[in-house]
Amino acid sequence: MEKLIVHGQRPLNGEIRVNGAKNAALPILAAALLTRDECVFENVPDIEDIRTMVLLLERLGCKIHFDRARHVVKVQAHDVTGCEVPRDLASKMRASFLVSGPLLARIGCVRAPHPGGCAIGRRPVNVDIKGFAMLGANVVQDDGTYSVEAPRLVGQRIYLDYPSHTGTENIMMAACLAEGTTIIKNASAEPEVWALAECLVAMGARIRGAGTSLIVIDGVRELHGISHRVLADRIEAGTLAIAAALTAGDVTLTDLNVAHMDPLTHKLLETGVLVDEGTNQYRVRGRRPLRAVEVQTLHYPGFPTDLQAEFTVLLTQAVGTSIVHERVFDNRLQYTEEIEKMGARIRVAGQTATVEGPTPLKGADVRALDLRCGAALVLAGLIADGQTVISDVHHVDRGYERLDERLRQLGASINRVAAQEAVA
Ligand code: EPU
Repeated sequence: MEKLIVHGQRPLNGEIRVNGAKNAALPILAAALLTRDECVFENVPDIEDIRTMVLLLERLGCKIHFDRARHVVKVQAHDVTGCEVPRDLASKMRASFLVSGPLLARIGCVRAPHPGGCAIGRRPVNVDIKGFAMLGANVVQDDGTYSVEAPRLVGQRIYLDYPSHTGTENIMMAACLAEGTTIIKNASAEPEVWALAECLVAMGARIRGAGTSLIVIDGVRELHGISHRVLADRIEAGTLAIAAALTAGDVTLTDLNVAHMDPLTHKLLETGVLVDEGTNQYRVRGRRPLRAVEVQTLHYPGFPTDLQAEFTVLLTQAVGTSIVHERVFDNRLQYTEEIEKMGARIRVAGQTATVEGPTPLKGADVRALDLRCGAALVLAGLIADGQTVISDVHHVDRGYERLDERLRQLGASINRVAAQEAVA
């Protein structure tokens, strides 16, 4: 059990490379189940969720090695020996369910408990399950576990009730080895879905339209091994960009896809923050005063829900009343209570938070309730007067590789200590 201790009010300055994306790396690791050949993935972030996926693939019979220092994972699913997702791993993260589509396509069965993950609202897997059933699978749900069997999968025209991100990925992976053509309508257009499709195409899959709401997959008999580089993490990039803006610093992010930052860039400019875009470079300069804005999260290319909490911290420093609508998850504003302990003035009604600013923040003892809540608290700590102690840091480590070290590199005063030390 570790805590983060932040001493605030220091501007961040410098240049920093963006890491590989958690939400792109997790599905591509699962995609390795679709071939007997070895797959090599570069730029894989060294975070807790990736370690969980590595364990899961190992339990399914894959040979796998994660070179954490080089950020390289080599995985070979020559013989898939199991089709059961262990409950302990399923409960740790939603992405555990991403092995379902590949297992179904490769060996015709999967038994997976309903996945866990951040407690940010209802997180059903109906889209995935309905998609598998339309491709010809038989699904039985018993005691919170889905048993899915399909001796053969046959391509279909599938309309998604909701453009679920992992749901689209699961169906797309299953359809790669199905007979005939699958059309996914109302598909998720998130960049990570596009990146997964790029990876699958390199493995021999025939996919068109990924990155839009209509994806067409012509099934093939088999896929082969590849070497693939994981897409840059737009959420890590966004978190660092907001940190720069918040501390009135000057930070340049490198090795990222600038176009994927558009929804955030647009809002940063509206608040008065300066953003300069280059090829794979993104410079953010914080300015005061900041203007209050209204923002709503939506699936891509809308403003990302995964940056909603972080951006709200920035809005506590804007002059006037800002309004934040959370439209993706139905319970993702709980973190506001932790930020309020630091002096923020936020009123929540349903799915909307109203932020009055600017309010000086002061250090406090706060708790990371989930991954992005943890990131938001770190950001709040960076501008708070005095010491902020953040507990339950394991949530942050699920999705950010050594966030504390990286912020220190930019000039922040942030340290990780064992929980007992923080009490002393
Ligand atoms: N939904 C349904 N039916 C379904 C599936 C989802 O109604 O069958 C609803 C959910 O209730 C939720 C919304 O759709 O309100 C979004 O769910 P979706 O399935 O699209 O998201 P996800 O696949 O669970 C991924 C990321 C999330 C990210 C969202 C949106 C991974 C592993 N997770 O979640 O990442 O917020 O897409 O972009 O890719 C995070 O990194 O902190 C995180 C939560």
